[in-house]
Amino acid sequence: MVGQFISPAGYADMLSRGRAQAMPLLALAPETLRTDYNRKPFLVGHALGEHPLFQLDPLFALCRRLPPEQILYRVGKIPGDTPLDSSYDDYKQGLTLEDVLQHFEERQAYICINNPERDATYQPLIDGLLGEIAAQTDPLDPIMSWYSSYIFISARDSVTPYHMDREMNFLLQIRGQKTVYLWDQDDDDIMNSEQKDRLLSRIGGRPAYQPSFEAKALAFDLRPGTGVHHPFIAPHRVHTGTALSVSLALTFRTRQSDMWTDAHRFNARMRGLGLRPAPVGRHAWLDRAKCSVARAGQRLHRMLGATQHDAA
Ligand SMILES: [Fe+2]
Repeated sequence: MVGQFISPAGYADMLSRGRAQAMPLLALAPETLRTDYNRKPFLVGHALGEHPLFQLDPLFALCRRLPPEQILYRVGKIPGDTPLDSSYDDYKQGLTLEDVLQHFEERQAYICINNPERDATYQPLIDGLLGEIAAQTDPLDPIMSWYSSYIFISARDSVTPYHMDREMNFLLQIRGQKTVYLWDQDDDDIMNSEQKDRLLSRIGGRPAYQPSFEAKALAFDLRPGTGVHHPFIAPHRVHTGTALSVSLALTFRTRQSDMWTDAHRFNARMRGLGLRPAPVGRHAWLDRAKCSVARAGQRLHRMLGATQHDAA
């Protein structure tokens, strides 16, 4: 799903508002951030539990107000190893969104609201939360370049199947309970460097779950007022408890994660030529060089495309 690019001026504005926040809604421990941010998952705190915009009526009104393509839903029980991308089509049972909203608990429904920040009512709150994150992460990982948020509402016992995203995340539990299983993104047995190159180049599907991974899962039990940080591309699977659950995911990319992404794309190109490039993340200078070449290649590609278009 398309998120929102952040201009340098927009980031400066977000950062200064986040730093000036008199009543912060997020509690990120500075020492944990310093040691674990983008390396290991960790718990965070927040004060969104009683926020009026996260009660069910305003959330269902948001579902009805946003363009239909921003609301994904599925119903019933689904297996934990279902491919995430097709799960919404495969487990919809032909029901309409209105039916799902009216019989939410009865249908054992799950709704993902994509990009609530595009709604004027929700935008100030979500931008403010992003600003709070930026104020804390900027010294470690400066310049957010993109963000996208999601609200998940689950009647009960839902599973978000094993998958990995191409960004960082703070997942905040607002109502009900969730268990989030996360895997180490740097463990070659979970995801090798070729799989990461393909993931970030969007070649083929996402790396698949194997039963042997289960023993390596890190489990985080989330309650209202807690959340968990997902490092860049960390694989995860999420189970909700037996009661209605509401959570918010704040996902974002930074100058650093964009650089990793382009270095992975460079590697995928090299693999296409039959070469075996060094894994991304091993040498920062090499990753930067790969990123520069990949971006120069993209610019050249665009220029040639434009030239051909002009000549046609
Ligand atoms: Fe995810």
